[in-house]
Amino acid sequence: MEQIGVSMPWFTPRTKTVIAASILALVTIFFAPKHSFACAALLATATVDQRVGQSWMQNNRALFNQKWQEMDERERLVVRTTWDLWARANQKLPQGEWQTWMVRAGRGFGKTRVGSETVRSWIREFDFVNIIAPTADDARDICVEGESGILAVCGNDDIKPTYRPSKRKIEWSNGASSLIFTADEPERLRGKQHMKLWCDELASWRYLRAAWDQAQLGLRLGSNPQSVVTTTPRPVDVVKELSKDPNTFLTLGSTYDNRENLAAAFYSRVITKYEGTRLGRQELNAELLEDRPGALWTYTLIDQARVKDEQLFWQRIFPRLSRIVGGIDPAVTSTEDSDECGIVFMGEMPWSIGAELGLDLCKVAGVEVPHYYVFDDRSNIYTPDGWAKAAIAGYHQFQADRLIGEVNNGGDMVESTIRHNDTNVSYRSVHASKGKITRAEPISALYEQGRVHHVGSFKELEDQMCDYVPATAEISPDRMDAMVWAGTELAENSMELGLISYEKQSGAAELQGRLKETVAEKAAPGKVTVQRDPAAVVHTGVPTCPQCQCTLLSIIGGGGTRCKMCGHQWNDGATNKAPFYAMRAQMLSGEVRRR
Ligand SMILES: Nc1ncnc2c1ncn2[C@@H]1O[C@H](COP(=O)(O)OP(=O)(O)OP(=O)(O)O)[C@@H](O)[C@H]1O
Ligand SMILES: [Mg+2]
Repeated sequence: MEQIGVSMPWFTPRTKTVIAASILALVTIFFAPKHSFACAALLATATVDQRVGQSWMQNNRALFNQKWQEMDERERLVVRTTWDLWARANQKLPQGEWQTWMVRAGRGFGKTRVGSETVRSWIREFDFVNIIAPTADDARDICVEGESGILAVCGNDDIKPTYRPSKRKIEWSNGASSLIFTADEPERLRGKQHMKLWCDELASWRYLRAAWDQAQLGLRLGSNPQSVVTTTPRPVDVVKELSKDPNTFLTLGSTYDNRENLAAAFYSRVITKYEGTRLGRQELNAELLEDRPGALWTYTLIDQARVKDEQLFWQRIFPRLSRIVGGIDPAVTSTEDSDECGIVFMGEMPWSIGAELGLDLCKVAGVEVPHYYVFDDRSNIYTPDGWAKAAIAGYHQFQADRLIGEVNNGGDMVESTIRHNDTNVSYRSVHASKGKITRAEPISALYEQGRVHHVGSFKELEDQMCDYVPATAEISPDRMDAMVWAGTELAENSMELGLISYEKQSGAAELQGRLKETVAEKAAPGKVTVQRDPAAVVHTGVPTCPQCQCTLLSIIGGGGTRCKMCGHQWNDGATNKAPFYAMRAQMLSGEVRRR
């Protein structure tokens, strides 16, 4: 009664009761010929409660249980799919004027159900109600065929949906249609128009800005284009903007709201993982977290250097990466509850090539330093063979130079599992002897310098990174570790990490002076000897360039080495793969294969 009472203050409680009773009588008569009395009574009271703004099931569980026993299977199906019976107040399509209804809620709140039900009600009136899911798998497995997807909630309706996966479309028996898009292909949204739109899990869209902008440009059919956004939040720019936008109707909800409808396994898996943790405030209570004090990374830091134009990356930057490495942080066990295996791919872009491509890559202390791109995260819960296969598939797909894995947990098992699957992979084991902070800090310093770019967004990886406070961290996040291994391998080869440690420890001013000198030396015609003292770099066992003794080296295709200062190249016996980059460019000139 409350909601009508608020919007129509002239309704006294007595008037409301009379109206409710009359509607109940009428609606029972309407349902009675088609259903048993038990079913008809339920549907009727639900309709009345909906009209007066109540959440029926929350108030009538006992009545429901009793009537449920009296129903046959056909009726139970009708009841199960009657959303009016089930929807809680914060799951109902809001009245009033809004452009975006954002349901920002915790895991398992019933967000997908809200999206499907909203499509279900819109499709009766509008011809083009389209759907955007994070990935093609999510579109099919969650939004369409999932337990709370379109087919499950609308399967029993008079307006029937027919799913046409090859056309990426749902056709409805009333002539309406729903095109299905995925946020990892924002280009497919270009030029497409929508009357209404359902965007599921917006905050984890890989190319969030591009896909959202394209979607909004196309939302222009009919007199009242609207979208429903259902998402667990993350403090990324689009989500922050939408939450503040006056044209957004914001609905908040938590996992606990839907507790009684969640499978015990889901509840215990998700709740045990997140309850009492900071990330739990986001994943369970849907709070938009601020950057965490003391964390090695912040969302702001990652956002600032993020690659938003994924086409530019895959078509122009990726083929020119001088080195690609896949970092692996293997899990020891592979049950449902076990750790994920972190598998993250990163590449290095020399500054000069970036400049040639017209990229605006920052320098450090005037020095043309390389930049790094995190471009794929294939972490998951795998069997031991499964993670090796996933890592090797990525290695071949991206023509990576090396896989690198931590041996602490599984000992030699990591290398033997890799070799068992492919003897020819270039693989190096690393020992996590240094301690997490020592390894992660220099990589976070690279981010601070604006030199590490995420190609699109990687929800789980970034959540782990921004939640990692070295002083208090108890667990070692797998995806973050894999990224740190890959980053360390790339940057250590160019001695970056030594420079950063040195800079951090004491000699910042001195080092910067030397780096400037180095640049001046390099610019002087005929001079190839760079005068930077290798001892300045706090790094043991540093190889140096035979020509100029500089330690800024990078490994090039085929295992050769190139000095980043004087450009001298030499080979330690391995064959030189000169046409390597041309080949990679050719391979990628068509569509880049991605997940
Ligand atoms: N009001 C409701 N009454 C009954 N069942 C509900 C209600 N809301 C959601 N459910 C059910 O709860 C389960 C979880 O819902 P759903 O999958 O929509 O949650 P979600 O928030 O999208 O979860 P995730 O965070 O995993 O994406 C589904 O079986 C769904 O049908
Ligand atoms: Mg969902």
